[in-house]
Amino acid sequence: MRIAICPGSFDPVTLGHVDIISRAAKMFDKVIVAVLVNAEKSPWFTIDERIDLLKKATIGLKNVEIAGFDGLLVDFAKQQNAVAIVKGLRAVSDFEYEFQMALTNNKLNSEIETVFLTTSSENMYLSSSIVKQVGLFGGNIYPFVPECVHDEILLRIRQRSKQK
Ligand code: PNS
Repeated sequence: MRIAICPGSFDPVTLGHVDIISRAAKMFDKVIVAVLVNAEKSPWFTIDERIDLLKKATIGLKNVEIAGFDGLLVDFAKQQNAVAIVKGLRAVSDFEYEFQMALTNNKLNSEIETVFLTTSSENMYLSSSIVKQVGLFGGNIYPFVPECVHDEILLRIRQRSKQK
């Protein structure tokens, strides 16, 4: 069985993430979406909230599982017997950062390949940060997030904006 990991912060899940996850699910026998800690970001959603949103957003994808892990991506990948890490690439702006991570992960464990999928053109501009920005200032996030978790995400963003 060929297993791939789709890693990320998923803070929160967007339609762009679901697109990459569902395409990876066609390429591999099993895809494990791993909610990991990005030391450079301060998340708005807890790990459990992010896992819960991802589970709802991928409910129709039978070979997809969601997990959280507080450690190195390559350690998680090895623990799960994964052969690949799948990431989405949007614009040139993603490239340097993703390339750095892929090379670091390769140095840490050369048996796990990183595979990049080009984003669908309609998701070129999309990111979790954009969703939070638009939601925070009362904009419509409907075009950016899976419909089944839209209300939950919006509620959480509004709660967060009141705390500020
Ligand atoms: O969605 P993001 O924030 O771009 O994803 C980045 C993430 C979470 C995949 C990355 O920060 C990560 O792999 N974190 C786990 C710790 C780790 O393995 N770091 C070394 C990779 S350079």
